[in-house]
Amino acid sequence: MTASSSNDAFVEFERVQKSYDGETLVVKDLNLTMPKGEFLTMLGPSGSGKTTCLMMLAGFETATHGDIRLGGTSINNIPPHKRGIGMVFQNYALFPHMTIAENLSFPLEVRKIGKSEREEKVKRALDMVEMGAFGGRRPAQLSGGQQQRIALARALVFEPELVLMDEPLGALDKQLREKMQFEITDLAHRLGITTVYVTHDQTEAMTMSDRVAVFDDGRIQQLAPPDTLYEEPENSFVAQFIGENNTLEGVVQEINGEVALVKLDDGELIDAKPINVGVGDRTRVSIRPERVEYNKDRLKEGTHTIKAEVLEFIYMGDIFRTRLRVAGNDEFVIKTRNAPDQVRHEPGSMIEIGWLPEDCRALDA
Ligand SMILES: Nc1ncnc2c1ncn2[C@@H]1O[C@H](COP(=O)(O)OP(=O)(O)O)[C@@H](O)[C@H]1O
Ligand SMILES: [Mg+2]
Repeated sequence: MTASSSNDAFVEFERVQKSYDGETLVVKDLNLTMPKGEFLTMLGPSGSGKTTCLMMLAGFETATHGDIRLGGTSINNIPPHKRGIGMVFQNYALFPHMTIAENLSFPLEVRKIGKSEREEKVKRALDMVEMGAFGGRRPAQLSGGQQQRIALARALVFEPELVLMDEPLGALDKQLREKMQFEITDLAHRLGITTVYVTHDQTEAMTMSDRVAVFDDGRIQQLAPPDTLYEEPENSFVAQFIGENNTLEGVVQEINGEVALVKLDDGELIDAKPINVGVGDRTRVSIRPERVEYNKDRLKEGTHTIKAEVLEFIYMGDIFRTRLRVAGNDEFVIKTRNAPDQVRHEPGSMIEIGWLPEDCRALDA
């Protein structure tokens, strides 16, 4: 045990690095602490190191540097079958020659659990995923969604403390995916299972997780609950990767407490909240489409506003989506709720926009 282990920490990565070829680090410096029962998602573009992290935790890959701990004990000292880890992957890989019940029984046999107890556990696991009537079938006789449920049941049948899932819903159609998203989180929370879930789908990450670790380039860029990630991104990568975002580039001219005055590249001045930037730094200013205001009456006295040309108006039913040209950016989007007093901006017209400084973040360039 090291000093950094606390009673609360169930899964810990401490300064973990991984290289496959002895030269390039695909995981650069991973630090992560998960309490028991947490549902954590690793989200990031392809190649950012998510699967590698999961494989190291499962014990199929070893870390080049650093330490991974499970329940306070370094994972290197625990033989794989004693780690109590259940796993679900995108290609569920049920054994095709075995029935569903035999597939579920297999991890229990490996663990030397007696026949009657096995039968009872298999039945309970099948009922849990509402597949109780399918024990006698073979995998090929089930739909993709049903097979995926069985894969989930197989990962849970031996009551693991930790479940790892790597893009488990990637092969399913949208409707089934959304249903399974709910079923997985519901089950995990109900059984108190600690889950590490991997996906490149941000909606999936946002809707399922207690916390999300946003990966890029072998590092966690930010680790936070979904609402914090969306509303308080700490850098430009996270601001761009999570949700829709408008970006304007410029230089930080002044900082007065919580407000930075930013001079955009076309010379206009706007207000933003400074995040890890100082006076004179280049910055990317980030603002969410629903936080942009075009009605001056609703802005604070003294707020800087900026001219915008309306390029496109899209009626979407519940909301209006208006695309603007702002400081040379043709992809600046505002979203407004379809309310009785709401304006439908005409393409070609000029408007003035602004925002509360706390809604707009001056991030790294
Ligand atoms: N077994 C392996 N041998 C060599 N390189 C690998 C291996 N597995 C993954 N990589 C490389 O490591 C990097 C991270 O991959 P991976 O962890 O699979 O990312 P992700 O799951 O985020 O898509 C990629 O550049 C990938 O090509
Ligand atoms: Mg992967």
